[in-house]
Amino acid sequence: MEIEAGLDTTNRPDEWKIEQGMEGHKLPILDQTGSETLHLYPPRPAKLMQDEEAIRSVGNRTKLFARERQGWKGYVEWENYPEKKEKAHKILTSQTFPPCPDFNFGPIPGTNPVLPGDDFKAWHAALGGELTSVADDSWRTVLREKHSDMLHLLQFPYNGEPPKRLVTSKVITPNPLHFVRNHGGIPIIEKDKWDLTLDGLVQHPQRYTLNDLMDASKFPRMEKTVTIQCSGTRRIEQIALYGGQGDEVPQAPWAEGAIGTARYVGISLKKVIKDCGGLISPAKHLELYGVDTYVKDLEVCNYVVSVPWSKVKANEVMLAWEMNGEPLPKIHGYPLRVLVFGYIGARSVKWLYRIKAIKNPSLAPVQSREYLYFNQQVGKYNQRPTDGIQIQEMPVSSAIMSPWTKQAIVHVGKIRCKGWAYSGGGRWPERVELSADGGFTWYEVPPGNLSKKGKWAWRTWEYDLPCEVEGWIEIVCRCWDNSLNTQPLNIRAAWNWGLHVTSSAHRIKIYSVNKKREITRKRLDKFEQLGIPLAPLTHYDAVSGQTQEEYEEYWNTHDPRDVDD
Ligand code: MTE
Repeated sequence: MEIEAGLDTTNRPDEWKIEQGMEGHKLPILDQTGSETLHLYPPRPAKLMQDEEAIRSVGNRTKLFARERQGWKGYVEWENYPEKKEKAHKILTSQTFPPCPDFNFGPIPGTNPVLPGDDFKAWHAALGGELTSVADDSWRTVLREKHSDMLHLLQFPYNGEPPKRLVTSKVITPNPLHFVRNHGGIPIIEKDKWDLTLDGLVQHPQRYTLNDLMDASKFPRMEKTVTIQCSGTRRIEQIALYGGQGDEVPQAPWAEGAIGTARYVGISLKKVIKDCGGLISPAKHLELYGVDTYVKDLEVCNYVVSVPWSKVKANEVMLAWEMNGEPLPKIHGYPLRVLVFGYIGARSVKWLYRIKAIKNPSLAPVQSREYLYFNQQVGKYNQRPTDGIQIQEMPVSSAIMSPWTKQAIVHVGKIRCKGWAYSGGGRWPERVELSADGGFTWYEVPPGNLSKKGKWAWRTWEYDLPCEVEGWIEIVCRCWDNSLNTQPLNIRAAWNWGLHVTSSAHRIKIYSVNKKREITRKRLDKFEQLGIPLAPLTHYDAVSGQTQEEYEEYWNTHDPRDVDD
């Protein structure tokens, strides 16, 4: 890597910020393996290249990557055609693409969408064919189906969450406010042209239309309230502590809104497997295929993961077509999606079109190389996929939706707090506790202040947290589930390079102004009399807390500051 000597010897205008760790992306890596320390600076962006001949040699992209089936807009089949995957890989490796902004070390842009996803857009454009218009079509679907206040973390593939004030405004998340987490474009599928293939190690492979699956005489209806949580929820706290793996997908900088709860209608996957005559030995897992195209390490694939048969057998895997009384929105998997109760959201495949019974967990990248939970001492230069635990059941977690960190709150001894709590694997929040002193003393949120229990659902809560003091305090929230699991108390305890599962107790720092205290009340009155606004907190206002007489009176009646002997 090129060493930019000038930067080592001359102070830059932003030197102070760099020294203070505020511009991590500009820092050199120090190489101390030799007798002298080398400064390894990020290289200047290389010129983009394109090997036209290599790309042309692949053939006609419009034909190669044509729509596979009528009425399935945005669908290219990859998994059945290894040679097609190779051609796509050749196209993507015969050119370079603009680098993405660094959102771990670099400043996160103050825009909405926060990140544009330029690399994914460029890859789709480079592949062409059916994928040419997928990025634009997807964004149009976002604008049509999602609430206008959504926080768009990544424009393409679309990743978005509701703002804090709306995350827990309802116990059942309205569809337009349910978070969305995509690895590729949003396919637009006509329900009457759609079908589902069930093959692999089953007695009688079958194809089902939606009407077949909706035939209640064959497949009994199932209706469930289910919380889906992405393992990236609250990732922003891990990033703020230490930078980690920085690809935008699957590592988008989520806050507390990558969780949502809805009432789904569908059927149990177990019954469909039975309808195929059951599994044939040695089948132990079900591979689930989504229509969308995902580009991982410049290899192209459909979205594929797997779930163990034991989970299916327990009737905890559902095929759903209805969400909160409406057909599934396009963005959430229309016409049919999977719901794996209590598991990480990644297994709940949207735009499902194939289920294959297999022996071992899927080797597809989302299952085998992503959503892995590494030990803290496994990082960029020493990790192997087998070192990570594949994340399945989500651990217990919680979050405070109100107030927000750095907020000042004027109150009379109690601070109103709101939030959610959740536990995966069929466990549920049994107790939520809040602390106003960084986790030393804990108050229980009264059971009546929590929403109803459900085996597969979160609980929202509200609580007036006692707080006596004025000053910066740290409010902490933690949950105990029905198995008495609770959350690690700090982020570091569970920090990991992949920035997954931020399940530590949620901490927010707020400035408490307790008006119940006489001194504070009088001073606030004085601000009001003088017409001085309270905000912003840190602005210095020349309003003395004592008159000159009161000051002098104090020293007349107390020991002096210094004594002689
Ligand atoms: N299914 C497909 N086909 N493609 C995807 O990108 N994302 C998964 C899962 N199912 C995904 C998918 C992930 S990581 C999550 S967290 C959930 O969908 C999110 O579901 P939602 O977007 O309906 O909230």
